[in-house]
Amino acid sequence: MCGIFGCLGKHNLITQTLQGLRLLEYRGYDSAGIVYRTAQGKLRVIKAVGDINQLTARVKTRPATSLCLGHTRWATNGGVNLKNAHPQVSFNEQIAVVHNGIIENYDACRTKLQKKQIKLRTEVDTEVIPNILYLLQHNKHKIHQYLRGQYVFAAADTTTAPGFFVAKSGTLPLYLGRAKDTVYVSSDTMAFPATVQQIIALNDGDTGEITLDGSKFYHLGQPITKAWQAFTPLNKQTDKNGFATYMAKEINEIPDVLNRITAAYQQDETLLLHQRQFHRQLSQTDCVHLCACGTSYHAALIIAHLIEKHLHLRAIAHVSSEFTADTLIDKRNLAIVISQSGETADTLACISLLQAHRVPIVALCNVTSSTIAGQSELCFPLLCGPEIAVASTKVFCAALLVGCLLINRFNPADCAALGQLAQTTLQQARQLIHLPANRPQKIFFIGKQIDYFLALESALKVKEVTYTHCEGYPANELKHGPLSMIDQHSLAVVYQSDSTSNAVAEITARGGQVITLPPLAPENPLNFITRIIPAQIMALDMAEQLGINPDKPRNLAKSVTVL
Ligand code: G6P
Repeated sequence: MCGIFGCLGKHNLITQTLQGLRLLEYRGYDSAGIVYRTAQGKLRVIKAVGDINQLTARVKTRPATSLCLGHTRWATNGGVNLKNAHPQVSFNEQIAVVHNGIIENYDACRTKLQKKQIKLRTEVDTEVIPNILYLLQHNKHKIHQYLRGQYVFAAADTTTAPGFFVAKSGTLPLYLGRAKDTVYVSSDTMAFPATVQQIIALNDGDTGEITLDGSKFYHLGQPITKAWQAFTPLNKQTDKNGFATYMAKEINEIPDVLNRITAAYQQDETLLLHQRQFHRQLSQTDCVHLCACGTSYHAALIIAHLIEKHLHLRAIAHVSSEFTADTLIDKRNLAIVISQSGETADTLACISLLQAHRVPIVALCNVTSSTIAGQSELCFPLLCGPEIAVASTKVFCAALLVGCLLINRFNPADCAALGQLAQTTLQQARQLIHLPANRPQKIFFIGKQIDYFLALESALKVKEVTYTHCEGYPANELKHGPLSMIDQHSLAVVYQSDSTSNAVAEITARGGQVITLPPLAPENPLNFITRIIPAQIMALDMAEQLGINPDKPRNLAKSVTVL
């Protein structure tokens, strides 16, 4: 994962880089760093363990500079410490690199460099890049011949005119942005300032030498031309709107999101056309494969269940990373990929497999400018606006509603009622799940059928932001094992239905605490879409009690771009 942001120009480049990095923190926040060119043409590196606040505190002065590159890290190989933070510099401090991805032949590169008496100082794969660039001197565009893996990076070199070098191998995103007198590089166009009017997306195999006077591009070592594309800066909406955390803000946006989706999918001409196309595809399909990770996978489980129930069509939800060449697929199948970010590497790997089998791909995606959206034949937007908190909340509800609208077997009045139902659920959430005074050591969410999938998602929310042991379980399955865990230190939150009373009795008989969660608006068959809200609020409240920032839980990142 990791975020890259940098700029080449004249004004406030260090401040601009820090601002850009802040917008990329969703890609990881284990450590961060910047490098800039000093007036003497040297490279000055400043790094910090932790997030951009920690880095900003270490940047004591912000001298004028012609180039600044920055990085926010989610550690893959090499521990979380200052030494392993990016930028990484060549042995002679001539070249500095900020990198996202993994260099798979890192060991071989390291051995080659050692044979040339170049000693590496860290545990990170990134460190080989500036040293290999140093050896390549004026042939940097041949770098892809030396590195293997999925990677993007930007490099600064003291021996060249002010500018930077970029390279991309695989599907990880890297963009250049151009404003009047500044050129930017970023992992996400969302981080570009409002002055950026044109962008270039790097493709697999591209390299580029970027200067203010003009840039040179290569593809697999051969010169190519790349044209700047018009770009409309995005409305970032990144304030918390009065809420203490993004997670709280985003849960409270669920009513608006549901109303927005219902209106758009019933009125927008393009969306209506795409829905008709989707229904034609469905009519030619004998099996639907749904692929997704994390929260999006839980939405996939529910949508698969509904496709089988309402359309009598085989539908299988796969955790993306478990969807492999051994999975039975053929071109009569249809794939639905679900992703908030649209950049999840495990889901992108599924797309490659599906494309190889010529399976049509439909995406349910929140970021419509993302790689997953671009690789799909049809992309249905989730219309949530930016989701910043690592734990996904509003997008889960949005994916469920879009899935239901695509299934097209529900009463429009029931869809239209969901915004109000979400509002009522928000108001009643803390009465529905009233946290016990004694904090439970282990928590079980249980339910049947769709409620079981909600239980899985509820447990994931609590795990993500409270670090408490928590599991989602099918109600009737408790007696086949997990009941042995129940004692006075455990809490079971039960998604109540006609068939959960036995489970409640079994837990109570063994001294476990039980909270039962009755459905609000049981007459609305779509009520499961808003039923997750009390568990989301429970996770949020527990995080607050524990002093954990739910927007940035330890070890996680919002967008997971490594396999
Ligand atoms: C990460 C995030 C989760 C998210 C999952 C899938 O693990 O922390 O919140 O559910 O990725 O992400 P996607 O963007 O593909 O929905």
